[in-house]
Amino acid sequence: MKGIILAGGTGTRLYPLTKLVNKHLLPVGKYPMISYGMERLRFAGVTDLIIVTGKMSAALFTEYIGSGQQFGMRVTFSIQEEAGGIAQALSLAEPFLAPGEKFVVLLGDNLFQEDITPYVQSYLEQGSGEARVLLKKVSDPRRYGVPVFDEVKQDYIVRIEEKPKQPKSYYCVTGIYMYDTEVFRHIHSIAPSARGELEITDVNNVYAQADRLKYDVLKGWWTDAGTFDSFNEAAIKLRGVQL
Ligand code: G1P
Repeated sequence: MKGIILAGGTGTRLYPLTKLVNKHLLPVGKYPMISYGMERLRFAGVTDLIIVTGKMSAALFTEYIGSGQQFGMRVTFSIQEEAGGIAQALSLAEPFLAPGEKFVVLLGDNLFQEDITPYVQSYLEQGSGEARVLLKKVSDPRRYGVPVFDEVKQDYIVRIEEKPKQPKSYYCVTGIYMYDTEVFRHIHSIAPSARGELEITDVNNVYAQADRLKYDVLKGWWTDAGTFDSFNEAAIKLRGVQL
């Protein structure tokens, strides 16, 4: 199966560290951050990985990852000319996928414990043109995309609100998404947000509105590592971990 890690962006919340190097290459425990996501995807059956990143640090990515052989995957790089949002970054993977193909997408700053194989399996059993996202219960959902549930349509998310002031649940939509190539049609259909980016939440809401967005809830620990607090938390969780 194919997987995509989105590892671009400007990482402004980790300035000045990210003035020097791409966020996803910063050290977390013994390894550059991206290593953990690569390992989790490989464990879930990803054999072919597309890494979307920016021009900054591109040479360091290839130096560290190379062809992917050492990581047990075949790795291809797609370079983003400039940061344009998560959905825009995802659209750069389109040429590497066959029509209708299903795949897993991971935001490279999302670090997590659990084996996601069962969730990937559930997605493979879903109908074509549907999507699946992984959720996690968090103490401060206002920092994230937050799902809205419906008592009738229990297996489905009816809407996602991005960084809401008054969250409607205690769950966050993590940066672990499953799609097939229909997603590219949806990305091409959305408009840039107020901050000028193509937002992944707008894409997921296209699915939600059509009752095509299912979910699972992660049980193990999960953190993003995009702010200094979460970056430090990730380093503590992964201290001593050997891949
Ligand atoms: C992004 C998504 C958000 C999601 C989060 C998970 O936010 O927009 O919906 O909950 O990743 O890490 P960002 O971290 O880019 O602000």
